[in-house]
Amino acid sequence: MINIVLFGPPGSGKGTQAQNLITKFNLKQISTGDLFRFNIKNDTELGKQAKSYIDKGELVPDKVTIDMLIDEVKKPTDAAGFIFDGFPRTAEQTEALETIVKEHLNSEISICLALIVEDEILVERLLKRGETSGRTDDSNVEIIRNRIKEYYAKTAEVAELYKRQGKYVEVNGVGEINEISEKLYAEIEKLAPPKGKY
Ligand code: AP5
Ligand code: MG
Repeated sequence: MINIVLFGPPGSGKGTQAQNLITKFNLKQISTGDLFRFNIKNDTELGKQAKSYIDKGELVPDKVTIDMLIDEVKKPTDAAGFIFDGFPRTAEQTEALETIVKEHLNSEISICLALIVEDEILVERLLKRGETSGRTDDSNVEIIRNRIKEYYAKTAEVAELYKRQGKYVEVNGVGEINEISEKLYAEIEKLAPPKGKY
């Protein structure tokens, strides 16, 4: 199995790049943000719990997020591995992911790929998307800046944890989408393929 943590601040291109990676390596994407939005749209109990945090650009509490992730990982799949997009976002989630991948998939995180994009470009991208996305958290610059603030306060330290394990790789997230994908492919292809295939 190949299990990728796709990491980076809000708007760095995690979702965009995940689309290319799932096709190239036959992976299943789990985006916690997409799962929350799906639940909000369907007015589920989980959606109700998450909405107030998301609307302010704050992180949803760890317990809620981790339980949701476990449910998703447990679903049967033919994929050759997973892309975790937007998870983990705290040290507690990072620790939980290690256990989840071990217990439910009998595997481990292969690599943490971090997309590097400067803050002003992030704000620009998200404001632009907000013109059409209907995402409440893209709707004004204060909420967008709060998402970036949350990233530095709670999420940036996740990078340090993967660095310590020798699994952290940075890729420039500015430029043509397909060129960025090529750089990500190259990093994944450097990994020793476990049991001969992806
Ligand atoms: P989530 O949905 O994960 O949002 P995010 O990480 O804040 O940011 P995005 O998904 O908007 O950005 P992205 O990096 O995927 O970039 P994208 O490809 O879309 O989370 C939303 C909320 O849910 C959080 O704030 C939190 O409340 C909650 N949540 C989620 N996970 C959680 C967790 N684990 N714990 C607690 N709470 C959690 O691209 C962005 C834009 O840029 C797009 O318009 C795209 O077209 C454009 N773009 C992409 N690449 C390029 C490029 N190379 N050049 C130009 N434009 C580009
Ligand atoms: Mg996303």
